Amino acid sequence: MSTTQHSERADLVCAMAAAHADERGPLLLILHEVMDEFGYIDATDIPIIADVLNLSTAEVHGVVSFYHDFRTTPPSGRVLALCRGEACQAVGAEDLFTTARRLSGSRADVEVRQIFCLGNCALGPSGMIDGVLQGRLTADVVTAAVEGKPS
Ligand code: FES
Repeated sequence: MSTTQHSERADLVCAMAAAHADERGPLLLILHEVMDEFGYIDATDIPIIADVLNLSTAEVHGVVSFYHDFRTTPPSGRVLALCRGEACQAVGAEDLFTTARRLSGSRADVEVRQIFCLGNCALGPSGMIDGVLQGRLTADVVTAAVEGKPS
């Protein structure tokens, strides 16, 4: 990341933090917004957020590291987060997860992650493909996603 990019990012993260600072439970809101904007939370974001919220960097880091959804490295490519919650398991989620893992193999451009309940149980099996919630996933959809083809 160049110095200019770093500065722009720092300014934006600071603005995001300031925009939520007076809300209830601002830290999670800010972290989600940073994830939405950049796809990950950089180590340099943590002291900025901590400063705006008057928290220690350890407190912010603790929250970032506690939740698996907060990644600290940029995604290397397509990200499939497949639900393995009970409702989705009852409609074939385990097979989809196994298929996605097998197809992605050692590919560096696809990341298959597990997630437990997206609140979309009625439309399971559910998952997020590049951050977009999808229901009624099928092996064809998952295969196309792993292979980078439109489904
Ligand atoms: S169990 Fe999968 S969305 Fe709820």
